Amino acid sequence: MALREIIKFGDDVLRKKCREVTAFDEKLACLLDDMAETLTSADGVGLAAPQVGILRRAIVIDVRDGRGIIELINPVITEQSGVQVGNEGCLSDPGEWCEVERPQNVVVKAFDRNGKEFELKGSDLLARAICHEVDHLDGILFIDRVKQDIAKRS
Ligand code: CO
Repeated sequence: MALREIIKFGDDVLRKKCREVTAFDEKLACLLDDMAETLTSADGVGLAAPQVGILRRAIVIDVRDGRGIIELINPVITEQSGVQVGNEGCLSDPGEWCEVERPQNVVVKAFDRNGKEFELKGSDLLARAICHEVDHLDGILFIDRVKQDIAKRS
């Protein structure tokens, strides 16, 4: 395992749409291990592959609820309900926290590192983290959501 450099806001890489993972191989396992180590080292809640320069649909999340690192490959949010408004940050934008509106609950379909499909339900911080990280795979950053909220209110 190795720490990877986290790319910061302003880099075009963070604005690209990521491609699906098609090979569930050693290279993917290595990427996921490195992302987990990088996430833990940075004391973050979530990290998406584009944040370490890999334009593939893979994310890791750790909401410190005892279940450890959650790996989501090719995640798709299939259901969402409720609303939560809370402060959100990003490892690619250290020190900035903004109020962002997210669903209170989500259901996400994804694959594990072995290519097995599964479904995960998340609420509260986990729902927020899933939405934030899935956004990264489409080049969307949390500051975009803040701007949308402000536009909606005015
Ligand atoms: Co982020």
